[in-house]
Amino acid sequence: MSVEKTVKLNSGYDMPTLGLGTFTVWQNPEGQMARVISAAVKAGYRHIDTAKIYGTEPLIGPVLTQLIESGEIKREEVFITCKVWCTDHKPENVKKSLEQSLKDLQTTYVDMLLIHWPMSYQAGDELFPKDADGELIHTEDDYVDTWKAMEECVESGQVRSIGLSNFNIEQMMRVYDIAKIKPSNHQVELNAQMTNKEVADWCKKKGMVVSCYAPLGSPGRPWKQDGEPDLLEEPVVIKLAEKYKKTRAQVLLRHLLQKGYVVLPKSVTETRLAENIDVYDFTIADDDVAKLDTLNRDLRVYSEPIAVKNPYYPF
Ligand SMILES: NC(=O)c1ccc[n+]([C@@H]2O[C@H](COP(=O)([O-])OP(=O)(O)OC[C@H]3O[C@@H](n4cnc5c(N)ncnc54)[C@H](OP(=O)(O)O)[C@@H]3O)[C@@H](O)[C@H]2O)c1
Repeated sequence: MSVEKTVKLNSGYDMPTLGLGTFTVWQNPEGQMARVISAAVKAGYRHIDTAKIYGTEPLIGPVLTQLIESGEIKREEVFITCKVWCTDHKPENVKKSLEQSLKDLQTTYVDMLLIHWPMSYQAGDELFPKDADGELIHTEDDYVDTWKAMEECVESGQVRSIGLSNFNIEQMMRVYDIAKIKPSNHQVELNAQMTNKEVADWCKKKGMVVSCYAPLGSPGRPWKQDGEPDLLEEPVVIKLAEKYKKTRAQVLLRHLLQKGYVVLPKSVTETRLAENIDVYDFTIADDDVAKLDTLNRDLRVYSEPIAVKNPYYPF
């Protein structure tokens, strides 16, 4: 079975089916972001996933500018996804947040803007605003109003397509019902041990492209508990990597691509960046797909426990 390198969004734009995750690609060591973005572009990546909360936009902007000015890539060849953070949900703050992202990314538009989470926190400079008792300060700003402000960003030409991230089905339905511009993308935690099937099926039914974050199960997450499984160490993944003469990561990514998803693996390692995008030249047979499907445990590693008291907490 062939997997296309791009998928058509309901907005009419093409989204590359494999993008570079940039969460935790911090400033240190100095120059890491420049090295990673340059290596990724050289390896063929044309889709970059970023967000205000990652602190990566001011680091990505100058590298992209340099790659564009040197003629390595054209702006229109790179698909940039960014996200509106929980402290920017008030409609008047959505545009402000986008304008800061555009300034940091040194561009006049982004290809995709997502509502990062359905929860809203008190607006201001603190990304996780806390009260005197150290409790996160929630607000009841409705993401439906945030969505209407996102639509205005499309109308102003600063954003090409808009979507959601980390919403549950009921929350997606509320947005879908009022939307003048229907969401074209939903970015969720999705990998072989967290299939997120009901949410993904709902999106597919509505014509929304599903992007998988943590497609490898986020093996390097600092909060990984002892004894928690590691997808890259699963015997079935090891066996299939041997069978198809590909690496374990390639098997896991291809498994998701064959289901029609977009994948967003993150790596700061040049060999892995090249490895992770080299997934378009083999097919996992149906019976082997079924073996990988048995790895599901609904194990969510990004559950955002700090926000469980928020009225719009999705899980
Ligand atoms: N919307 C949201 O709320 C949300 C939440 C979480 C993440 N995301 C997005 O999704 C992206 C990916 O998620 P993630 O970074 O948590 O997880 P991931 O991509 O599943 O895993 C990244 C980890 O796997 C390692 N790795 C990468 N390629 C490998 C390979 N070929 N072989 C072995 N190990 C490999 C990386 O190590 P090295 O870097 O050391 O190579 C890193 O530790 C993020 O960067 C971010 O852009 C979005």
